Amino acid sequence: MIYVNPEGPNANPDPLLSAQDIRETFARMAMNDAETVALTAGGHTFGKAHGAGDAGQVGSEPEGSSIEEQGFGWANTHGSGKGRDTITSGIEGAWTANPTQWDNGYFDLLFKHEDSWKLVKSPAGANQWTPANPDPEDLAPDAEDASIKVPTMMTTADMAMIRDPEYRKISKRFHENPDEFADAFARAWFKLLHRDMGPKARYLGPDVPDEDLIWQDPVPAGSTSYDVASLKEAIKGSGLSIAEMVETAWASASTFRGSDMRGGANGARIRLAPQKDWAANKPEQLAKVLAALTPLAEAHGASIADTIVLAGNTGIEMASGVEVAFTPGRGDASDAHTDVDSFAVLEPVSDGFRNFLLKNYSVSPEEMMLDKAQLLGLTAPEMTVLVGGLRSMGVSSDDRGIFSDGNTLSSDFFTTLLDMNVKWKATGSNSYEAHDRSSGELVRRATRYDLVFGSNSQLRAIAEVYAQDDNKDKFVHDFISAWNKVMNADRFDVA
Ligand code: HEM
Repeated sequence: MIYVNPEGPNANPDPLLSAQDIRETFARMAMNDAETVALTAGGHTFGKAHGAGDAGQVGSEPEGSSIEEQGFGWANTHGSGKGRDTITSGIEGAWTANPTQWDNGYFDLLFKHEDSWKLVKSPAGANQWTPANPDPEDLAPDAEDASIKVPTMMTTADMAMIRDPEYRKISKRFHENPDEFADAFARAWFKLLHRDMGPKARYLGPDVPDEDLIWQDPVPAGSTSYDVASLKEAIKGSGLSIAEMVETAWASASTFRGSDMRGGANGARIRLAPQKDWAANKPEQLAKVLAALTPLAEAHGASIADTIVLAGNTGIEMASGVEVAFTPGRGDASDAHTDVDSFAVLEPVSDGFRNFLLKNYSVSPEEMMLDKAQLLGLTAPEMTVLVGGLRSMGVSSDDRGIFSDGNTLSSDFFTTLLDMNVKWKATGSNSYEAHDRSSGELVRRATRYDLVFGSNSQLRAIAEVYAQDDNKDKFVHDFISAWNKVMNADRFDVA
């Protein structure tokens, strides 16, 4: 598991510079310093690095190798090409004297020789470190014949574990407290392997730990036994606009990402930091909507998470006259359930569905919209119908893409967009104006997120289907079905 150059940045064997790379790389996996030391030390308690000879003796990767290799690849012509002759990273040797056993050998060796680690070259020419004066018990068994003893080693990245002041403090603590080290390794390993599985509701089998862990984004169970119809009536009387209700439900649910099953409406984290302050969520409007919905949730014994989604559904029902299915049971997370740093990375810098772009990026808005759609698990028709339907109910960062009064769920967005009586022209990198072809009058504004449904041939074909006069019911039906897919994307508890 090589995340950073083991020899140091650009093979520069400087443990302190290596520490910077390690810290940055592990932080991207939401691992703090203690988890990083536990993982690296625990991992390197086992196994060995392989650099018995020149890397030029290693053949192509599996995909590039001949068919007779049957998926193996990396054929190695050094000696036997395996066992003690293996070449992979180019670094050679084990980290501990007992590399098949869980013990404290990694820290024992690092600290025992801390003043005499010597920078040497592996047989493959890589920088690595070895004790200047090893005792016999500091040697490791040869990979093929345990009676032969070979030198142990550390990579520059391992040296960072005692040379970087913060890592060093942790390494010392773990060295002196092996039980704490073992527990820290077990926890960090579990996190590393389960982090992309999403909430605990997705875990199966007898080995699921009872304990809730913060990186699982825990959400307490919510009530399913309140009167949904009566809450819906109360929401209707709240004075909130259709756009406010629909946009807030979208903001809440659309943080979901199928890549690691995080985010979504469950937990109502939209009312907590950092989500309540995200620009995409229109913090002022959000505060107003939450102030209206929170007392209604409390009065009906519903979670705020459910109430936010139900308000979105209610807005759609008011805009369409069609009932939207609803599954209660979402819970409300608290600040204590929420790791702010790891939620910060879910912030939408682009959300084409809401016509929101934080700033200009090298990737086009429409490409980012496509990425969001795939993270939400949406097909091209689902993405299309959602954008059109949301715009028809007034959801946009400003007036761009809003072509109707915002009170009706209709396919007006598509019929208007496909209108040939106007000519579009760019007024900014993500802003366009349509002028009447004969009078020259400014008639509407849009973004790239909107216009791509007219310019891209595949999306245009879908837009034309929804713009058809005889597809109005299909449009409403498809919108509600795609909406429900997003609202329930994180409902693993009912799947
Ligand atoms: C600072 C981050 C890390 C670096 C730079 C690093 C680097 C390396 C290198 C160069 C090898 C030798 C590969 C070879 O030649 O076959 C290796 C092997 C290994 N690493 Fe890491 N590693 C890191 C973190 C981890 C972590 C977090 C774990 C697990 C929790 C881990 C577990 C292992 C194991 C078990 C081996 C031995 C594999 C074998 O015996 O074939 N390493 N690592």
